[in-house]
Amino acid sequence: MNIEPTELDLPASFLRDARLTITDQEFWKLRHFIHEHTGIALADHKRALVCARLAKRLRHLNLANYAEYYDLLMGRDPEGHELAEMINAITTNKTDFFRESHHFKFLTDHVFPALRASRQRRIRIWSAGSATGEEAYTIAMTVCESFQTITEWDIKILASDIDTNVLDFAARGVYSLESLQRVPEELRSRYFSKGSGTNQGFARIKLMLQAMIRFRRLNLIDGAWPMKGPFDVIFCRNVLIYFDKSLQRKLLTRFAEMLRPDGYLMLGHAEAIHGFEPIYRAVGHSIYQRRADIS
Ligand SMILES: C[S@@+](CC[C@H](N)C(=O)[O-])C[C@H]1O[C@@H](n2cnc3c(N)ncnc32)[C@H](O)[C@@H]1O
Repeated sequence: MNIEPTELDLPASFLRDARLTITDQEFWKLRHFIHEHTGIALADHKRALVCARLAKRLRHLNLANYAEYYDLLMGRDPEGHELAEMINAITTNKTDFFRESHHFKFLTDHVFPALRASRQRRIRIWSAGSATGEEAYTIAMTVCESFQTITEWDIKILASDIDTNVLDFAARGVYSLESLQRVPEELRSRYFSKGSGTNQGFARIKLMLQAMIRFRRLNLIDGAWPMKGPFDVIFCRNVLIYFDKSLQRKLLTRFAEMLRPDGYLMLGHAEAIHGFEPIYRAVGHSIYQRRADIS
């Protein structure tokens, strides 16, 4: 699991490690490979970060340098095991419960009341790029708070990510008490069970929330997505920033195809979209509604 350090955060031992000396050519090749397989566009200033994250793999595989690592990825990884490890090492998974909380308030104040008033009983929400699950569990808590008679509804949340480590973590549903700081006390006691003994300092998400969520590996750049939709709401927050403009545009179009008419797209605060007015109408801060009249 990675949160983004600055180059200055890298320990001196890392910088002394010969494996951290990457040549221009090795960096360009790996950067191209990563882009091709994940869509993640790595600028020049991410070089030290890439080195630090992949150095763990080099050590694990006992390789001397990045050229050997690139050769392994290209020629000696037919099953894609190392590709998966490389992706897990390279992604940035920073997230939080109730991150950008105005999105959850918008669900409570606008989206859910409209759904409750409709005849629709089926509700589908997608957390695309869910990282360690905090976003999906926050959605689930917000759902439970809004729909008192939850059993009368068919509500499912898909939480997907390219990184298999974070998905395993999310599916376990165990979080440190420290990480629950942004969860209001009342919700903490309603939706988490505190651990004791060796589990002291941790809390487990209650089954009723877990049962609502399916965690699945999904690479957003894959040509065909396995689910049919339509989704009422798609969260894709703090993911598009890692992609280049052309991939961002492609994904915004594909999200629109996955949304029901009038469905909502929640983006991260730095991901305002321009040039998509015929498809989405801005209805709040980084909240977009798919126009009903597009084909
Ligand atoms: C910074 S986290 C955002 C987590 C959460 N959405 C939030 O805003 O708190 C970005 C996530 O996007 C995932 N990601 C990056 N590239 C991806 C891709 N091509 N397909 C699916 N997920 C991807 C990463 O693995 C990471 O967990």
